[in-house]
Amino acid sequence: MTQAVPTPSSVTGQGVPHPARQRVFSGVQPTGDLHLGTYLGALKQWVATQDEAETIFCVVDLHALTVPEAVDPVVLREKSLEVAALYLAAGLDPEKNLIFIQSHVREHSELAWVLNCVTPLGWLYRMTQFKSKSEARESVGSGLLTYPTLMAADILLYDTTSVPVGDDQRQHVEFTRDVAARFNNLFGETFVLPNATVPEEGARVMGLDDPMVKMSKSLAVTRPGHAINLLDDEKTVQKAVMSAVTDSGRDTRFETASPGVQNLLSLYGVLTGEDMAHVDAKFDEQGYGALKKALLGEVLATLKPLQTRYAEIMGDRAGLEHILSRSADRARERAAVTMQRVRDATGLA
Ligand code: TRP
Repeated sequence: MTQAVPTPSSVTGQGVPHPARQRVFSGVQPTGDLHLGTYLGALKQWVATQDEAETIFCVVDLHALTVPEAVDPVVLREKSLEVAALYLAAGLDPEKNLIFIQSHVREHSELAWVLNCVTPLGWLYRMTQFKSKSEARESVGSGLLTYPTLMAADILLYDTTSVPVGDDQRQHVEFTRDVAARFNNLFGETFVLPNATVPEEGARVMGLDDPMVKMSKSLAVTRPGHAINLLDDEKTVQKAVMSAVTDSGRDTRFETASPGVQNLLSLYGVLTGEDMAHVDAKFDEQGYGALKKALLGEVLATLKPLQTRYAEIMGDRAGLEHILSRSADRARERAAVTMQRVRDATGLA
């Protein structure tokens, strides 16, 4: 009889006990442009955790190679620095966080290989991101299939307890737990089992041209007016906000408003920190034009200082590269400890 492929539910490894202090790890791919949704749903939330937890924020350039047809080497390298500079510009303090580029810490690739060896193929084939990204592609590299094991390596290398991600990445974090538990079962307790932390509803920004989909980097490439990119100039932002989808009425009460108007109201609330009752009262009896104008002001007030800091950081290349390499050195030290546990457990000499 052939042995059944273990399913996640049959895996019982409890994992190494969580460290006393929360360890947070997250990352962004250096592809496309970071937009307001990434800022509010990720960067801004990360900044809020940097004083409470040990935090590691990575620019995952190895993941960007999983669609090699889309990679231009010059652009990729530049984008990696750009994303790192945006982390800093958003307020992540390099003294409090590790901020580095994934490929600078080779242990990510090394652990990914070992995890590939313990990952049943069926677990990879059923990932929804693999299904959607491989659909409609003529050729699919195996890196796209094993994307989740590299992500698992990112997370497990640092004994991460908490992974702040969008809802679409929840399945990858579950996968990471399953792989870690399977490894622990096979080779003995080695990895900490992480949890996903998904930001609450308000931090979810929808497309300005289509409030039924989340604001997305890939959609923004072909649809001007879909997203507000963090580095957009004032005119572009103005155009996107003023042409955002609403409806032909004038209902600005959050409860009853159409999805497009709800998106604008909730964005306004998140940017100003005002609760919905306040926002409702403010725009009561006002048309959508007034709401959009007020929102535009708030968006620009958020983006302008961020863009000024970004320009300063990018203007000092050597300084930025120094921060990244120092962080990578510190990350490598920690990653090496985990890799040694993996080597000991598996018999790698
Ligand atoms: N897959 C994530 C995304 O597309 C990026 C990512 C890679 C990540 N490694 C990670 C996120 C580790 C959190 C933790 O958004």
